[in-house]
Amino acid sequence: MGEETAVVVASAPGKCILFGEHAVVYGEPAVAVAIEQRLTVSMSNAGTWSVDGSALDNQKHPHITMLRNAWLKDAPPMALHVSGDIPSASGLGSSAALSAAVGAAMHHLSNPSKGIDRDGLSAFAHRAEAHAQEGRASPMDASTSVEGGVVVVSDRKESVGRWLYTRRLTTPEGERTWEVHGLKPPEDEVYLVLGNTGVYAPTSQQVAMVAQALEAAPSRIQEIQAIGAIARRGLAALVKGDYEAVGHAMSENQLLLRNLGVSSPELESLIQAAAPSSLGAKLTGAGGGGCMVALTRDPKQTSEAIELAGGRTLISSIGNGGVRLDKSVN
Ligand code: MEV
Repeated sequence: MGEETAVVVASAPGKCILFGEHAVVYGEPAVAVAIEQRLTVSMSNAGTWSVDGSALDNQKHPHITMLRNAWLKDAPPMALHVSGDIPSASGLGSSAALSAAVGAAMHHLSNPSKGIDRDGLSAFAHRAEAHAQEGRASPMDASTSVEGGVVVVSDRKESVGRWLYTRRLTTPEGERTWEVHGLKPPEDEVYLVLGNTGVYAPTSQQVAMVAQALEAAPSRIQEIQAIGAIARRGLAALVKGDYEAVGHAMSENQLLLRNLGVSSPELESLIQAAAPSSLGAKLTGAGGGGCMVALTRDPKQTSEAIELAGGRTLISSIGNGGVRLDKSVN
């Protein structure tokens, strides 16, 4: 592989949804936080375009190919190396983090004098997520990875945090508009413990399953609206720094996600194991497998309980930095 020196290095965080997954696809509010775990891409000059030693291929690397074509089409070829500690396909936003980090690195190479264009980058990463999820994707993952901190997405401008931008998407169910806001969480000694079931459940399938359930029984939109109401309550608690109430809302959100059919026995068993030592616990992301999250003041104890129940854990503080250049050309 050679001893090339990286010309540019960029990294972006994964995300964890505290409230509102699935319902956010239908315009209900949702809240996500950037986690400590990051994905890093380093780019070095090379004879041909490659990703971790294999040739850049539109089928295998659609996001990276799109970004290369947008910003570095006529540039000399480069070798990309991707590393980090966000498990892939587990609901922690690794694909959005990949788009964010690669996008920041390539944009920097094409315009070294300009800073990171967070609006443009998160719009691009959202389009890539929508492409992968058959047209049904909220801007949640993309904006959280790009912006960092806490991100609130809703169909209206909320009176919390700082409004960032509007996102629009034509989904199979119609036009959607989301208002994206950024928030700094109140400081406290609370942690997220993420428990990975190791079960693979593609987001596109989970999202399609909810769409089918709603098509079969349109009155189930009430369940989606109920998730939105809990998300709004959880958000108000988060803004106040009332983490006990945040945890309570997370556990309530889980009951509705379970009813919606997006939980799984493996997720339920990790959530149950975490419950005694945490403020609240729920699945995070699309469900069906992937990860659960517990909010806790005793991360060691919660992590041990989840591991005993068969999950692999990661611990994170709440609200970490967004995409950044770790090594730049100038
Ligand atoms: C996936 O991380 C979250 C979902 O709500 C899908 C989306 O928002 O695009 C299930």
